[in-house]
Amino acid sequence: MAPNPKNIGNRPVVTLTTDRLALRPTTPADAQRAFEIQSDWDVTRMLRMAQFPPDAEDMAGWFGEHRQEWIAGTAFRFAIERQGRMIGLVDLDEIDGEEGELGYWLEKPSWGQGYAFEAAQAVVTFAFEQIGLARLKTGHAADNPASGKVLLKLGFRPEKAMRKASRSRGEEILHQSYSLASEAWRNRAGADR
Ligand SMILES: CC(C)(COP(=O)(O)OP(=O)(O)OC[C@H]1O[C@@H](n2cnc3c(N)ncnc32)[C@H](O)[C@@H]1OP(=O)(O)O)[C@@H](O)C(=O)NCCC(=O)NCCS
Repeated sequence: MAPNPKNIGNRPVVTLTTDRLALRPTTPADAQRAFEIQSDWDVTRMLRMAQFPPDAEDMAGWFGEHRQEWIAGTAFRFAIERQGRMIGLVDLDEIDGEEGELGYWLEKPSWGQGYAFEAAQAVVTFAFEQIGLARLKTGHAADNPASGKVLLKLGFRPEKAMRKASRSRGEEILHQSYSLASEAWRNRAGADR
């Protein structure tokens, strides 16, 4: 039986492992690496809520909140590590009742090798099987087909496309939203659980 989502606060800190990656809870020390990765416009232009260029102090402040968010059960943010090096981040945030939002970003040299799918798949499993969420939401800029492919492979279904403000681009963009219900995840074709 899925855990009661009301009990997600005080959840012990966990590390998830996949074939090629370790996903460990972020620490304040990750802010510098995140700053480096988000200093690449090709990464940050796809992140609707991010600032470009990134601000080191704001980044440190954001990473400084992650442990408290984890304890409160409002967000679970994982550094994606490949051979001991942080290559990106995958997170669940905006957790409200039984719903949450999935997000991810990787340094450009690590694109195109299936890492985003591998990391997101582990975090979706964590969301449904360990946190007990019933539904995940997410979305991507219409000009970000790579993210769309990752979401479709995970079983997310497209919902509305609408114009939304992008902080990084300083303008409105066309944004495609998606959702995935835990039932659909459990019943997906080829499910191994
Ligand atoms: C989006 C992002 C996370 C994808 O990471 P990734 O590790 O390269 O993704 P994966 O390798 O798991 O899968 C990418 C898929 O998109 C495909 N793809 C890549 N570029 C594409 C393009 N321009 N058009 C269509 N498909 C594309 C790949 O071929 C792959 O498909 P496949 O699995 O069928 O071969 C990465 O590009 C990134 O960090 N971008 C910047 C930040 C960002 O966009 N975050 C998501 C915000 S919604």
